[in-house]
Amino acid sequence: MPQKDIDSLLSEDRRFPPPASFRSGARIGSMEEYEKMYRDSVENREEFWAAVADKLHWFRKWDEVLRWEAPKAEWFVGGKTNLSYNCLDVHLKTWRRNKAAIIWEGEPGETRILTYQALHREVCHFANVLKRLGVKQGEPVILYMPMVPELAIAMLACARIGAPHSIIFGGFSAASIRDRVNDAKARVVITADGGWRRGEVVPLKETVDKAVDECPTIEQVVVLRRTGREIAFHPERDHWWHEIIEAVDADCPAEPLDAEHPLYILYTSGSTGKPKGVLHTTGGYMVGTYATSRWVFDLKEEDTYWCTADIGWVTGHSYVVYGILANGATTVMYEGAPNWPEADRFWSIVEKHGVTIFYTAPTAIRAFIKWGEQWPDRHDLSSLRLLGTVGEPINPEAWIWYHTVIGKKRCPIVDTWWQTETGTIMISPLPGATSTRPGSATLPLPGVVPEIVDHDGRPVEKGKGGFLVIREPWPAMLRTIYGDDERYKTQYWSTVKDAYFTGDGARRDDDDFYWLMGRVDDVINIAGHRLGTMEVESALVSHPKVAEAAVVGKPDEIRGEVIAAFVTVESGVETGADLEKELKDHVVEEIGAIARPSDLRFTDALPKTRSGKIMRRLLRDIAAGRESAGDTTTLEDESILKRLREKKP
Ligand code: PRX
Repeated sequence: MPQKDIDSLLSEDRRFPPPASFRSGARIGSMEEYEKMYRDSVENREEFWAAVADKLHWFRKWDEVLRWEAPKAEWFVGGKTNLSYNCLDVHLKTWRRNKAAIIWEGEPGETRILTYQALHREVCHFANVLKRLGVKQGEPVILYMPMVPELAIAMLACARIGAPHSIIFGGFSAASIRDRVNDAKARVVITADGGWRRGEVVPLKETVDKAVDECPTIEQVVVLRRTGREIAFHPERDHWWHEIIEAVDADCPAEPLDAEHPLYILYTSGSTGKPKGVLHTTGGYMVGTYATSRWVFDLKEEDTYWCTADIGWVTGHSYVVYGILANGATTVMYEGAPNWPEADRFWSIVEKHGVTIFYTAPTAIRAFIKWGEQWPDRHDLSSLRLLGTVGEPINPEAWIWYHTVIGKKRCPIVDTWWQTETGTIMISPLPGATSTRPGSATLPLPGVVPEIVDHDGRPVEKGKGGFLVIREPWPAMLRTIYGDDERYKTQYWSTVKDAYFTGDGARRDDDDFYWLMGRVDDVINIAGHRLGTMEVESALVSHPKVAEAAVVGKPDEIRGEVIAAFVTVESGVETGADLEKELKDHVVEEIGAIARPSDLRFTDALPKTRSGKIMRRLLRDIAAGRESAGDTTTLEDESILKRLREKKP
């Protein structure tokens, strides 16, 4: 059924205007309203953002809205605030104190509901634990945790005392933790005895123990008891969460922090081998996440909002925790896999908790399609009023399925484009205003000035592809790469003059809608998560049997892209299935399961230009099983291509 619809819909070039019923109650209910806001945000930028910031609590008001000396931005200069205060304390003075802040479901099936008051109490307790461990303002704290309320509690506790958190997604390996901890020079790690995923325990504490052996700065590890299983415990270093919390009280006023005080560091992949610590600060990020949650999700008092992202990614930072709680809404958190115990787990959660807004990734939607409509059809999804996607371009088939099977053609879909660096959603429909088109993230949000340019930084014509850049500063933008201002400049502000370089390709259509076209650098997007090809190459080359490796993305039906690796080995090394497995496992060991190559081919040489540069474009074609259309005359040895093609993985 859906397939036929899709073809005709696409050939009709159909648009999906917001349903009248949605529009009438929406915060932004018409294009006129959006256009007016947008114009205002660009023409009177400072007044515009000051008016948003005024809705939040400041211990001291700012002197200047923006100080901008490209590429250094300071927002709400001189202002003092606290994001933990704005997520918690402000609500305690209202009826919301007994409203659910977090509704959590563990994978084994238990539910916990924390009201704003209860969450506040837990956060204050844990903030006092951090102080007791000697954590000082400005000192980074590492969180390596499952999706449990304590992760949000630890974040808000860090924000409360001004200790920037650095969350490492629970799927990353010990070596990844080591690199991040050593870059941040952290002294304290918060972890758990494990978390549940697909019926099994993810052994977080073991992984931390392994990493800590190579992290000279680590002095203290706090361990949450989540699964109850046996773990190695080092009494001189480790503390049980439930024990140490007994030793502190619940009185912990939020610190008034400078608007530019670091809020968090989140490591992300770039086109080089070394992860980048993206730094976000307090005031601008707070204003940005607060505002965009209202605009894009039309977030209201009565909503039960669920973003399925792990808090270990930026989506979880901005739109599971900060933006949502700053609005006093109810956020749902789920610990485990979408198909555990069965493929309807998400829909059972939607039904059970009456979720009204549901935000997920295209890769998840493609998995739902594969599992079949019978799973969502078992559940009453009538509470839903709005759907969202993030992480990669959504293919129109997946969009239409989402619209039809999950949204029952009632719910607008917001396809939200943004990045770890942008901190907030940048290009997205406004659900009560924008007529959406499957596959397009549509229009920039207020305050966002994108442009599509060519190699020389000149705007390209409509319909033509080019590099997506952002022209003006916005409040939640990254401030730098932690400890590396130079890299911040070269990475983001040097490719195109006077613009922030996103690394994405895009085009604009006749409606001025943006269509994202994927990365233009050596970054792969796997299931909505960025991975630098260089990182995987470094991991492969660190194996003693590997001489050289090249890694490219290969299209995949469910995950968007997967990794294809081309490997040459040291002389005398025997290649075969055993070594293939050994190398794949080695990458998992070095980076984490997310980086496991799907294809790994051995080759006696890699296709290189005469100047010695690996021609990844050709490898991408080979991995995808396509003929290479482009020029191959710069290749040093053309016969390599033929040999590589013959080697099916
Ligand atoms: O390539 C774009 C893609 O994801 C990249 C950002 O990845 P990350 O920092 O991990 O953050 C993901 C969640 C915000 C972007 O450079 N991307 C993200 N959202 C979309 C997207 N591509 C197309 N459409 C989207 N809606």
